[in-house]
Amino acid sequence: MTLVFNSETFRDDFSFFNSPAAVRRFPFPFDKDAYRYAVNIEPHTPGPVGSVFEFPIDVDEHYVAETLDRALVLAEDSLRSQSLPHMDLAGWDLLELLFTNMAADYPEHFTLERSGDQWHWSNRPLGVEDTFTFGDTASLPSTTTALPGPIGHALGPMEYATRQSQGDFCLLDQRHDDLWMDAGIVTTQADWSLDFDLGMSFHEWHGPVPLAHELGVFDRALKYLLNLQQGRPVRRLNWTMTINPRLDTSPENYPKWGVDRTTVTPDNLGEKVHLRVELQSFFRLPRSNGIVFPIRCYLISLRDLVTVPGWGQRLHRVLISLPPELIDYKGLSRFREQTIAWLSQYDEQATSQTVQ
Ligand code: HEM
Repeated sequence: MTLVFNSETFRDDFSFFNSPAAVRRFPFPFDKDAYRYAVNIEPHTPGPVGSVFEFPIDVDEHYVAETLDRALVLAEDSLRSQSLPHMDLAGWDLLELLFTNMAADYPEHFTLERSGDQWHWSNRPLGVEDTFTFGDTASLPSTTTALPGPIGHALGPMEYATRQSQGDFCLLDQRHDDLWMDAGIVTTQADWSLDFDLGMSFHEWHGPVPLAHELGVFDRALKYLLNLQQGRPVRRLNWTMTINPRLDTSPENYPKWGVDRTTVTPDNLGEKVHLRVELQSFFRLPRSNGIVFPIRCYLISLRDLVTVPGWGQRLHRVLISLPPELIDYKGLSRFREQTIAWLSQYDEQATSQTVQ
């Protein structure tokens, strides 16, 4: 499949856009008119051709622009990518997962040639052409023009591979019947911090999430993940809403984007308010026995979302259904009522009384 990559930004002038094809393949996450937290995990098996589930690692029209945005974040704040020393092997596992799948599923854009431990990687969209010894971190290149950063910044396997990938990645070490966030690269997150969570266990990093602990969601999810099998990845969708198509909504940069929530008006709402969906997948890693958790973020403006029959009505009803704790945690309080009012034009049964 030959992709045409958008020239676009996720900051400043926000020139991000979805082509009509990207709107059609958007992973709309709601299968009913109400939303509650649940252990919504399913096998990460190939989905329909052209869908975001077609391949294990989805590459799309935003690939080049997203990797450039990641480079900008890392240039400002190197703590967005961290790996504790014992996670190097998991980093090589992740590099293998990404490069083998990208080369197999997008051969027009990526090629991986392997001769024993000597690997040659060609990434044509980013102009990267490298030879390295698999497992030998010293053989990896430093930051270059294609992978910009502080001159000569040494790249470990996780950072080298994920600077060339869309979405965030957490690398989890499994020990003492728990998962530990011991490495990651996190530049496109919905208001949480890798630097804060590094070294935490599954229940610790989920500490701020309301309602789900009491429902037993995290106990069940952890039990499931501890038994994840190699070659049988799983996935789930999560969602929130973001003002402007901004990828980096991190706590570190809250002063830059928090104020955006006060700028929504009925006139600009369709362009400014975005549904933000995370395709979260989970892969058991072969050598380290760790787990990698890619979090791939998809953005869509409400103006585009309502062009798909049924989506405007469904989102309208979902937003009405949310418990106060979720409205607060997802940061929707400042613009939810306006958004419900705007979406009501797409819901035949809408009445103003339904807004809480
Ligand atoms: C091991 C892989 C996982 C990692 C690294 C991870 C990480 C995170 C992080 C960092 C947050 C944000 C917490 C905060 O506010 O600071 C979060 C939220 C959440 N996680 Fe996980 N998680 C994982 C697996 C799961 C699984 C399997 C479930 C299944 C139920 C789950 C359910 C949730 C929910 C419901 C939220 C709240 C999201 C929202 O309302 O937007 N997580 N997770």
